[in-house]
Amino acid sequence: MSSEPIVHTCFEPDTCTWQYVVADLETKAAVIIDPVLDFDPAKNAISTATADALLSLAKENGYTITRLIETHAHADHLTAAHYLQRQLEASGAPKPAICIGKRIDGVQDRFAQRYGIDQADYAGAFDHLVDDDEVFSIGNLSAKALHLPGHTPDHMGYVIGPNVFCGDSIFNPDVGSARCDFPSGSPHALYLSSQKLFSLPPHYKIYTGHDYPPGGDARKDPVPYTTVAEQKAKNRHLKEGTTEEDFTKWRTERDSGLAEPRLIHQALQFNIRGGRLPLEKEGGDRFLHVPLKVPKGVVF
Ligand SMILES: [Fe+2]
Repeated sequence: MSSEPIVHTCFEPDTCTWQYVVADLETKAAVIIDPVLDFDPAKNAISTATADALLSLAKENGYTITRLIETHAHADHLTAAHYLQRQLEASGAPKPAICIGKRIDGVQDRFAQRYGIDQADYAGAFDHLVDDDEVFSIGNLSAKALHLPGHTPDHMGYVIGPNVFCGDSIFNPDVGSARCDFPSGSPHALYLSSQKLFSLPPHYKIYTGHDYPPGGDARKDPVPYTTVAEQKAKNRHLKEGTTEEDFTKWRTERDSGLAEPRLIHQALQFNIRGGRLPLEKEGGDRFLHVPLKVPKGVVF
């Protein structure tokens, strides 16, 4: 088996999301990790330029996409997994499986209840639920799933050769770590997930799910990865020597002051469906629900 994949890093600037195409050069089999569907909240409109660029990349390189992999149910962007699956099938390529961690069922049920989504609307949204430590092939490459909870309970990372795609667990060293205040999030679990990542060989590359530079302004050149050694030496929230108690206390305080992600409601409703459109209602519309914020103490 070969062990060195080709990694294509594709940054989506509107949500600062890293998407990855990871390929086996020998067989041209490839997976896409965390693909983004464009969404304009001012128009409530989806579009596909970012996802289409991933399809073009795959086509230009002659790749067969075997899996569409989600690290978790994202709360800040919409997934293009279902769109990509449909496009690939329509092109005559084999149908790639949409994959996510096995704990997604709890996340789906929780948010389906919150947003009033029928079970029939999200049942079977994912083709494969990934088990902890599951090993699978990408052509001649071997990949292994790592459960990395903390940000969300369903969260998985994927080790492919000397690379780990860690989603939203730790970020680049100057950014630090992911928030842990979503339902069933846990700073305690995130700390343990960081230790799992830090136990990998020091030269392994940790590819992050986002690159949000400090200060809030976009980085001119977003950074997809640093090594395990660099993370252990420099991660501003979790570098070696940070105690679990200190991290947990700091993360909890920090999360209590964070605003909710801009697209949280649209993203969660879309992503628990694996990127399927909401069912069409009579009249042809498809709906996402957005809770109304009402000022406290005001009588209407
Ligand atoms: Fe996330």
